[in-house]
Amino acid sequence: MQLAKRVLELTPSPTLAISAKAKELKSKGVDVISLGAGEPDFNTPDNIIETAVDSMRKGFTKYTAAAGIPELKQAIIEKFKRDNNLEYKMDQVIVTMGAKHALYNFFQVVCNPGDEVIVPVPYWVSYPEQVKLAQAVPVFLEGKKENDYKITASQIESVLTDKTKAIIINSPSNPTGVIYSRDELAEIAEVCKKHDLYIVSDEIYEKLIYDEKEHVSIASISEDAYERTVVINGVSKPYSMTGWRIGYAAGNTSIIKAITGIASHSTSNPVSFAQFGAVEALNGPQDELLRMRNEFEKRRNTVLELVRDIPGFKPIKPFGAFYVFIDISEAIQGKYDNADKWAEILLDEAKVAVIPGSGFGLPNFIRISFATSLEQIQEGMRRIKNFVTA
Ligand SMILES: Cc1ncc(COP(=O)(O)O)c(C=O)c1O
Repeated sequence: MQLAKRVLELTPSPTLAISAKAKELKSKGVDVISLGAGEPDFNTPDNIIETAVDSMRKGFTKYTAAAGIPELKQAIIEKFKRDNNLEYKMDQVIVTMGAKHALYNFFQVVCNPGDEVIVPVPYWVSYPEQVKLAQAVPVFLEGKKENDYKITASQIESVLTDKTKAIIINSPSNPTGVIYSRDELAEIAEVCKKHDLYIVSDEIYEKLIYDEKEHVSIASISEDAYERTVVINGVSKPYSMTGWRIGYAAGNTSIIKAITGIASHSTSNPVSFAQFGAVEALNGPQDELLRMRNEFEKRRNTVLELVRDIPGFKPIKPFGAFYVFIDISEAIQGKYDNADKWAEILLDEAKVAVIPGSGFGLPNFIRISFATSLEQIQEGMRRIKNFVTA
């Protein structure tokens, strides 16, 4: 009895492995500080919960169209117009089971076996695996340290082959929190035009940006970029709705139609009442979103200060998302093989969970999440500093 090759080749998520171990310790009563979370620690705002509950009471508990309810698609269209200056029609938008599902289906519909997809390093853990599940090949492209690990147009040209099909852009980035500027995106869009590449632009952290930085969608750079880009976004991170599983994709009609075809035979519609909640998230008052963003900015400032105070820790300054990605090579040199081992021992001895960088493509880094309370952050960082300086 053999499982299929495609699953045998899957790399288990290191994010989940360390979180599982931290949870297990916690359940045994151990005082563990978790700085690993990939989700906001706030509850979903009440107005969103009330709307979803109300929709259930009104009987919206049945199948919907596979691509989502018209009310939500309309709210998404208006959001794109308002925030990104992008115009989409109803058949250019699909609601999915989280942004993750939209990304998964994107690779399924554009990749043939052996096609190459450029994955900027460091990357969000699921991109390479999703590319491989579509029988395509992830081509890893590491940004330069002096450019905060953002990739450039000329770097893209250096890895192109006749098999290159698409490129992933994730701004603001998980794990670094860096943001691509309009000029950087314009140069990347130009290379994609020249070599006829699809762009998949994961903008899930768009609303969580700091220091009054600007978020630009690469789809808005030019008419050509608009045509070749599928924008992925969702309500999980901005509205603290990770468990609701509502994301969306917008782009070229034929790609969206193909994604809808796959959804119709695999998942059908995203949860009906969660879709009504998402309408309220996008159309309702935005003050809770702002409150959460402001809180994240405060925590980012604190965590950066504490990280910079630890010998051998070199953080990349995040301007978005809720992570700090830290080069710890100096701190572990001569003592540990890599950050995986270091993180394992940190959890065992200091009872702090952080995510090692190997799952993001840079094994001498760690990712610290500030999606937890200031008190937990301060205590976690105190323990890490003691561990490093002991
Ligand atoms: C960069 C990035 N894209 C997509 C997702 C998936 O989000 P969703 O909960 O909408 O599936 C995540 C979640 O961690 C993420 O970090």
